[in-house]
Amino acid sequence: MNFIASLTRQAIQALYQQDIPESAINLQETRKEFEGQITVVTFPFTKFSKKSPEITGTELGNYLVAHAPAVASFNVIKGFLNLSLTDEYWLSLFHQEVLSDQFGILPKNGERVMVEYSSPNTNKPLHLGHVRNNLLGFSVATILEAAGYDVIKTNLVNDRGIHICKSMLAWEKFGHGETPESSGLKGDKLVGNYYVLFDKQYKQEVDTLKAAGKSEEEAKRESPLMQEAQELLRRWEAGDPHVIALWKRMNDWVYDGFEKTYERMGITFDRVYYESNTYLLGKDIIEEGLSKGVFFKKNDGSVWIDLTAEGLDEKLVLRSDGTSVYITQDLGTAQLKYDDFKMEKSIYVVGNEQDYHFKVLFHILKKLGRPWADGLYHLSYGMVDLPSGKMKSREGTVVDADDLMDEMVQTAKERTETLGKVDEFSETEKLALYDMIGMGALKYFLLKVEPKKRLLFDPNESIDFQGHTGPFIQYTHARIKSVLHKGNHQLSKDAIAPKALETIERDLIKELVSYTDVISNAAETYSPAVVANYLFELAKLYNKFYHELSILKTTDTLSKNFRLNLSAATAKVIAAGMELLGIQVPARM
Ligand code: ARG
Repeated sequence: MNFIASLTRQAIQALYQQDIPESAINLQETRKEFEGQITVVTFPFTKFSKKSPEITGTELGNYLVAHAPAVASFNVIKGFLNLSLTDEYWLSLFHQEVLSDQFGILPKNGERVMVEYSSPNTNKPLHLGHVRNNLLGFSVATILEAAGYDVIKTNLVNDRGIHICKSMLAWEKFGHGETPESSGLKGDKLVGNYYVLFDKQYKQEVDTLKAAGKSEEEAKRESPLMQEAQELLRRWEAGDPHVIALWKRMNDWVYDGFEKTYERMGITFDRVYYESNTYLLGKDIIEEGLSKGVFFKKNDGSVWIDLTAEGLDEKLVLRSDGTSVYITQDLGTAQLKYDDFKMEKSIYVVGNEQDYHFKVLFHILKKLGRPWADGLYHLSYGMVDLPSGKMKSREGTVVDADDLMDEMVQTAKERTETLGKVDEFSETEKLALYDMIGMGALKYFLLKVEPKKRLLFDPNESIDFQGHTGPFIQYTHARIKSVLHKGNHQLSKDAIAPKALETIERDLIKELVSYTDVISNAAETYSPAVVANYLFELAKLYNKFYHELSILKTTDTLSKNFRLNLSAATAKVIAAGMELLGIQVPARM
């Protein structure tokens, strides 16, 4: 629709002798209550025309009709010039763009982008917060790929530190050699249990010490369990073979478990980084920062950065005993990632409780003069709540990711059975369908909300076949497939179109054509919600089309085939768009 902007510019030159940039021309979709498809906002041009908005609009409208064969007619409502484009124009877009094989895959833009997501700690299984993180990261990566980027999906696993030592210690003390095989537990669950057990035993010790007259602080420091865990960490850092072997063994159990969860969720990574390999990095960057005067040393030897001028405060970057803090490691890892891939952009999908951390991280890298620091972006997202209340993250009462997925699939099964939709399905087909619907409901519900917003996940609402849900869109896809099946029709690139379009046909074509803009927009804003909401509008529009017009019963063969082809194109875009959200669509349900 670019030609409208350039032609409007030309019209303003010709009529009012003013040269304005195309970017100053505001084009909108015509509001539903008016006739037309594209609207030019003409208010700003009255200062050139020195005429009323109505007259200005009419003069511009006449010019456009006279100079552009694609503009059929217009009407003016105050400062809005509503244009109706010809059916030939819409049909040519439908044929040249929507029906082409490349539709929905933008040309390569030569830029590389890294998306880091998930980044769990190995002491506990994945929970609801990770689910939002994983889905968001994977979807953003998929969208960026469709928008023409070269994408590297990464995971930074926190596999070392006091947390995993706690699990290791509790397992050694109380585990009696339990393994995933002996217990039938998923490895991440098993290791998580020992983390929780450590915490329980530790609290008991602290209570006993307090009862014996110690202060809270003394009790925590003197707890033998905590001292042992710290000793274990020291031995790990010293490379003690026994400790390292245990650590490897338990982490491998965790990775097996994570792998199953990721697979079930349908997400993948191209490159995994481990903090055990990166935790010592960053110390040379501290040296560099000291010599460049970006950091300063306090009397106790600790190293800091002063970011008060940036509206932040002083931040510790290296402890007085020379050990790293979280940000030391992240400085080193950022450098490592860049050295590995030389990417133009690097996105960190991490919850908004770390907003401050990433502000500081990016400021430091800019101050150190890393040219690539401008390409760093924290894709911050809000917490997920459940109707029953806030999800907890410490005490082991979290909403577990595997349990949640099981529950979703179970709910999908119950709903589908009650609706009697699957009577002719084989058992295998039924299972596949329940999985698709349950996972589709979960993914869509979490992705349709802007990342920044905190969200309330309501499992029941998410699976409503009539609502703003994944299953509604999946159902629309299956409905189209069934129409195509009955009409014995497959998407055809050269289906001939009728001479005149019905309004709803034109609206549907227009919506399909805009899919490419939706992808670019979602990629620019790192927002799968843009795609999710578009698909909902498209599905609603298709259902309107389906109810307003007859397809299979149309006597005119030309119209019938065209409507079938429009249906097939809609199914194609729905499937492609849902894929950008990591959601599968069924052929029947
Ligand atoms: N493992 C960290 C956590 O669970 C998240 C790491 C995020 N990524 C990063 N580069 N700092 O809080």
